[in-house]
Amino acid sequence: MQHIRNFSIIAHIDHGKSTLADRIIQFCGGLSDREMEEQVLDSMDLERERGITIKAQTVALKYQACNGQTFLLNLIDTPGHVDFSYEVSRSLAACEGALLVVDASQGVEAQTVANCYTAIEQGVEVIPVLNKIDLPAADPDRVIAEIEDIIGIEATDALRVSAKTGQGIQDMLEAVVKRIPTPKGDPNAPLKALIIDSWFDNYVGVVILVRVVDGVLKANNKIMLMASHAAYLCEQVGVFLPKAENRDSLSAGEVGFVISGIKELKSAKVGDTVTLADNPAAEPLVGFKEIKPQVFAGLYPVESNQYDALRSALEKLQLNDSSLQFEPETSQALGFGFRCGFLGLLHLDIVQERLEREYDMDLITTAPTVIYQVALRDGTVIEIENPSKMPDLSKIEEIREPIITTTILVPEEYVGAVMSLCTGKRGVQRNMQYMGRQVMLVYEMPLNEVVMDFFDKLKSVSRGYASLDYEFKEFRAADLVKLDILINSEKVDALSLIVHRTSSQQRGRELAQKMRELIPRQMFDIAVQAAIGAHVVARENVKALRKNVLAKCYGGDITRKRKLLEKQKAGKKRMKRVGNVEIPQAAFLAILQVG
Ligand code: GTP
Repeated sequence: MQHIRNFSIIAHIDHGKSTLADRIIQFCGGLSDREMEEQVLDSMDLERERGITIKAQTVALKYQACNGQTFLLNLIDTPGHVDFSYEVSRSLAACEGALLVVDASQGVEAQTVANCYTAIEQGVEVIPVLNKIDLPAADPDRVIAEIEDIIGIEATDALRVSAKTGQGIQDMLEAVVKRIPTPKGDPNAPLKALIIDSWFDNYVGVVILVRVVDGVLKANNKIMLMASHAAYLCEQVGVFLPKAENRDSLSAGEVGFVISGIKELKSAKVGDTVTLADNPAAEPLVGFKEIKPQVFAGLYPVESNQYDALRSALEKLQLNDSSLQFEPETSQALGFGFRCGFLGLLHLDIVQERLEREYDMDLITTAPTVIYQVALRDGTVIEIENPSKMPDLSKIEEIREPIITTTILVPEEYVGAVMSLCTGKRGVQRNMQYMGRQVMLVYEMPLNEVVMDFFDKLKSVSRGYASLDYEFKEFRAADLVKLDILINSEKVDALSLIVHRTSSQQRGRELAQKMRELIPRQMFDIAVQAAIGAHVVARENVKALRKNVLAKCYGGDITRKRKLLEKQKAGKKRMKRVGNVEIPQAAFLAILQVG
């Protein structure tokens, strides 16, 4: 055990985590050059395109240190986005050390700070690493000062590396071996293994990635998962080199995979403890949480005969993504579809894109919303994740919305702009601290405001320099109302949304205007209204049009005419007929563009 080192890489998106992991694998000879595919740790194609690591994966490597001893390095990959912060915390719980990778040409960002604090709280040894020192814009001294100011750890001896050229990699691995503590743990105690990750494999079912904390896990052991008390027969254990290789056992300190005939991903939850059914541990490991979706949206097929195909596509995605939830939902306007729950907006984007790309679905997505707690006058409390399901106002005692604590890191010159953005989103400032050239702002804000378009706005007012991290704080009562959109006097349920009363009139007006721009002219006039209860707060008209489409070609040749019609048809693809009005996808998301 004294030759094992378990560590993760903490980095902000794009600071070079995947590239560095590849370089480490290559250095340790985990893969031959021919096998060395760029960014092996990001396995999904989509991830590669987006450049975001979504699922944590891990690799066991042999490293021959300068003192001649051979070490087993378990590099545990972590997701880099705020939507996946629970998975990050479980990956870090499996480590004794972490490389804090900061792009030497950029500096520290909020996500890095948040993950770094998570690591420090768990007693993980954090080693600062400055990456991309090959870039002319690299400014290591400034970034070292920033790490010290903002994160508060000693960084004068930060390692300087280039994941691109390989410079400094060996020194960094020496530091891993010297500075990261040996795993503790008792091989003779009852088994306790932490589930770091789990995924579905078509051939063997669920694969669980574990860090054995105490005890020994052998193939053929009968195991028990402590959250559900479900027992399974352990069929195989092994390690990823990065290719899977079977072993007879995994013991305290080691990281590896377990295959045990589990059929559904939701049975093997990240953070749960694996123990032996015949000799169970007294207590599970601390830190297990059920993760719940935070953001909801309706997904509807454009063609109603695609409903079954959409269901089976969602089922397939869920096999490998237990945080994706869905249930059937019917909308008067959109017909049959599904209400889906996501960890955050990025998660929603990824699911939507995979459905469209891998399953060839044409979808209408409704505006994302959060869960509201609604206290009714009869004393019951219900949770509403679809604005159109909001009970009648007369029955409601109060509506409570989810509040988050958000930490924003921004260069000094943009502080004013960011503060007014936060205030505009009903944010309440809790802290403000100058740290070198950066300022850390802490705000409490309604999640609903952040879900909408906060992230894009934050990036635009700070020219891309601000970064953000958030965590759920509590449900809090607020003066909220339901805003309905009526098209030709018909309420369109899929367009309803919940807004704060103070901004409801303005949102209604802006939304109606936006709708007018987005809904294409049709053969008749279309009235777009925004209403709160029976009170109409805005009205816009989409003027009739038609005759001129073909009129342009009057007397022209038939091919031009056909082309024009085809173009029109193609443009209709992502439209949904509501009553007799064609509404494009963009109109369902118009709320994201206002306010
Ligand atoms: P996520 O997977 O999105 O979290 O990003 P990441 O942190 O894994 O970053 P990734 O490894 O994908 O690197 C981001 C970009 O920086 C890529 O274009 C890399 O080629 C580039 N990059 C990474 N390391 C270096 C380096 O040392 N020098 C230079 N010049 N570029 C680098």
